[in-house]
Amino acid sequence: MNPKRLASKSLLLLFVSVFALSCGGPAELSIKESRYPLIPKPQHVEAQDNEFVFNANTKIIYDQKNPDVGMVVDFLRERFGIPTGYSFEQTNAADTNVIILKLDPTVGEAEGAYSLLIEPSKIEVRAPQAKGLFYGVQTIRQLLPPEIESRDTVEGMRWSVPGVKIKDAPRFQYRGMHLDVGRHFFPVEFIKKYIDLIALQKMNYFHWHLTEDQGWRIEIKKYPKLTQVGAYRKQTLIGHGSKKPYIYDGTPYGGFYTQDQIREIVDYARKRFVTIIPEIEMPGHSSAALAAYPELGCTGGPYMVQERWGIFPDIYCAGKEKTFQFLEDVLTEVVDLFPGKYIHIGGDEAPKDRWKECSLCQERIKTEGLKDEHELQSYFIQRIEKFLLTKNRYIIGWDEILEGGLAPQATVMSWRGIKGGIAAAKQKHDVIMTPTGYCYLNFYQADPRTQPLAIGGFLTLNKVYNYEPVPRELNEEEAKYILGAQGNVWTEYILNGREVEYMAFPRAAALAEVVWTNKENKDWADFLSRMEGFYKHLAALNVNYFRGNIGDLIRDKK
Ligand code: ACM
Ligand code: ZN
Repeated sequence: MNPKRLASKSLLLLFVSVFALSCGGPAELSIKESRYPLIPKPQHVEAQDNEFVFNANTKIIYDQKNPDVGMVVDFLRERFGIPTGYSFEQTNAADTNVIILKLDPTVGEAEGAYSLLIEPSKIEVRAPQAKGLFYGVQTIRQLLPPEIESRDTVEGMRWSVPGVKIKDAPRFQYRGMHLDVGRHFFPVEFIKKYIDLIALQKMNYFHWHLTEDQGWRIEIKKYPKLTQVGAYRKQTLIGHGSKKPYIYDGTPYGGFYTQDQIREIVDYARKRFVTIIPEIEMPGHSSAALAAYPELGCTGGPYMVQERWGIFPDIYCAGKEKTFQFLEDVLTEVVDLFPGKYIHIGGDEAPKDRWKECSLCQERIKTEGLKDEHELQSYFIQRIEKFLLTKNRYIIGWDEILEGGLAPQATVMSWRGIKGGIAAAKQKHDVIMTPTGYCYLNFYQADPRTQPLAIGGFLTLNKVYNYEPVPRELNEEEAKYILGAQGNVWTEYILNGREVEYMAFPRAAALAEVVWTNKENKDWADFLSRMEGFYKHLAALNVNYFRGNIGDLIRDKK
């Protein structure tokens, strides 16, 4: 069955179910699970009426000399080997009962492209790079019974995958998920789980928001007080931040990642073809750093690690040389830990109150010939960019970095809607789309009366699914600057990993399809029928996903 017929079949089923309801029949709405429950949907799927069945003699053929391919094989052996109890040994000879992983430049140009053939005698994955082979393995994983996610051997299973021919490649090169570990802190094991889920959905960036007003979460050897002082707050606000009077829990809270833990996580991500983008916020959202080193602020303090949510006026002083010395030292350690090309430097929500009153900041404005505090922020960011370029790293900043002039090589994350993204693309700057209205997965996903306390907003699964990252305002040339999109998970009201999972899933799955699958191949009803199978994998992975009301989902067709 081609994907179109697959889609129309599931649509038909939906109509039948909805019809049953409207006729006053039993209010039993159901969505039939797709035989190919793949998330994101591959670009071309040709169904076959057969299957491949794994057994203890299933072997792998691959190029043992290529370490990246070896990494994919290690992943396959770990992921498939434990639940099946099979060892997936290497062979050169066999031509049946084999999984072939082969580098093949003819498969496609895009990084991550792959082809997959499943037939009774063999499974063959071809890709121009190891990354595509990895995605092929993720596709096989999603076609296997959900018990494949078990971390113990599962006896008595029939490990079969349906026959298929797939040709696939991502629409966008940037497919990201973000996590704020500043407002609440999440242990190493959870970060790994999050990265696993990113990779499962063929996403390739993890934006790790490591510093905030409420906590500094990354060990910096040269400035130990950043974590000794900055990683801990005395207490935390109870209830919503807009509600006064403020009430606090009276319980100290904090935590941070050691450099050894960060190296471990970076390596874990590398093996899953996920690049981590660390975010070190500046000049705003820096209360925790200022609490540790008050001399970096305009007034000299004292400052506190914040105990409630919001935007705070104390930011790094842009007039003091020691601010830049400090940030360069911090970034030097950050660059050593994170090998990816991007460093996120924040740039959002930096009130200019202190800079307006600070003689050193005003002096800087004069000596640099700047017009105002916005240009001072631009000076600040450009200076940091220049430094990072000497280390061969490129900055990403929130769309406020447009104000006062963009740093020459900056990539812009458009979050206050899409205007920033449009402006940056028109200035020939790379853009990552993450507008609140479509990408803020910390917003309510259903009627707030039925949901745990969240920051606000309203963003359904359907709305995420229908997001189109390329703004209509851009012409074809400008559209090339849209690298992709990202789901953001800010954690003011998200206290632990279970709650992150609840907010992120299944909306992250919808976003994964937005950034992978060509627009014309997307189909809401088909997505829902594939999700039926995908939910089973999430459940087997012990992911605490939100399951929307089926009636709402079917009707929510926009
Ligand atoms: C943001 O949500 N402040 C980038
Ligand atoms: Zn100042």
